[in-house]
Amino acid sequence: MKTMKVSIDNIQSFVSKDEISKFQSEINQHHQSIIDRTGQGKDFLGWFTLPSEITEAHLTDIEQTALSIRSKVNYLVVIGIGGSYLGAKAVVEALKNSFSDFQQSNETKILYAGQNLSEDYLSELLTFLDDKKYAICVISKSGTTTEPAVAFRLLKNHLESKVGKEAAKKLIIAITDKERGALKILAEQENYKTYEVPDDVGGRYSVLTPVGLLPIAVAGFDIRALVQGARDMKDYCLNDTSMDRNPAALYAASRNALLQKGFDIEMLINFSPKLMYFTEWWKQLYGESEGKEQKGIFPAGANFTTDLHSMGQYIQEGRRVIFETLISVEKAQSSILVPEDEQNLDGLNYLAGKHIEYVNEMAEKGTTLAHLDGGVPNIKISIEQIDEYNLGQLIYFFELACAYSGYILGVNPFDQPGVEAYKKNMFALLRKPGHEADSAEIYKRF
Ligand code: PA5
Repeated sequence: MKTMKVSIDNIQSFVSKDEISKFQSEINQHHQSIIDRTGQGKDFLGWFTLPSEITEAHLTDIEQTALSIRSKVNYLVVIGIGGSYLGAKAVVEALKNSFSDFQQSNETKILYAGQNLSEDYLSELLTFLDDKKYAICVISKSGTTTEPAVAFRLLKNHLESKVGKEAAKKLIIAITDKERGALKILAEQENYKTYEVPDDVGGRYSVLTPVGLLPIAVAGFDIRALVQGARDMKDYCLNDTSMDRNPAALYAASRNALLQKGFDIEMLINFSPKLMYFTEWWKQLYGESEGKEQKGIFPAGANFTTDLHSMGQYIQEGRRVIFETLISVEKAQSSILVPEDEQNLDGLNYLAGKHIEYVNEMAEKGTTLAHLDGGVPNIKISIEQIDEYNLGQLIYFFELACAYSGYILGVNPFDQPGVEAYKKNMFALLRKPGHEADSAEIYKRF
């Protein structure tokens, strides 16, 4: 396998090799505690062995469901929030043609709902779907999250009034807990095709379960290659935690060494707009896993060169608390050259005959050096190309590194207690039954 690589050459003027390698023994212990399932959040370590536990029968089942959806509808509305949609969206957006939403084709396209509470968004979505053939994949591990529940109620009504109650049942798939939650009860009652989110896999680690795999397969992508990439990365990291070999160990140690030097904001950088939602997935993974007990590296992101014209100034000259983690893609999938122009009024003939990707590569190199000179350390993660296999590797790599990092910080990387605070207030404000005391208190504040 060609493995993704982590290079720390461009952080060494900020942290020494010793400052990084001092994390080695700690990482060895954390790795063992993940294997033995003894660390914090030990009930949510299913993602660790997941790639090699996915059976042929399971993949075939997901592929067949995907084929059936693809043969029936032009759109699949994925309803979910946080870990229940970001993994699928990250992979689908990375792999799809950037303009497929505007192309006439027989491909089934993925739409998203339940990831916000905007009346305008939902109203526009329903209007768009009025004359479209569509199916729904509703995803909620807990089965009780408000945003997807509201969206599902609306879309279910819409679909039922369009195609009839019985036909709608065959166009709805539910992905939820194996026994708990309102969605499970509804799915059983209505006899929807259902997939389970394994008990020991939390939302943000669930992209390699049906939560991610089904929408990705419906979008027409190769889930076997995705799983294979993750499986290879797992096998590669499993028996060797040394930073020379295990990229997740090297990345986790490096970012924690940088944190100890005051670099407490990490920006995940790409030079391909295809990776924009991969960054969103990564932000959630690291934000929810590390940001607790007043600890954690703040995960941010930027899409270059686009954001060099918005965030570039701050990164270059603002407060020196940012380090960058660059996902560098070695080759583009397409080939297009800068054309020669007789008049050369724009002065671009010096680039004539050069690949656009070559120009992009020089922008990447130039940016890294400029930021380095400005005091911004840069960890570089190189992948060969943006495809299913490489994304599978990256996903597993980031998950494993996130677990190591969370443990190094001393937090439980698999819970998200802080997410409840806004829900509690929202329920109190909405006067949800059972929240009467909180309602009385919260309304005193207005
Ligand atoms: O990572 C997580 O656990 C969360 O982001 C959840 O995925 C998110 O809150 C949605 O939860 P649920 O799938 O229970 O609706």
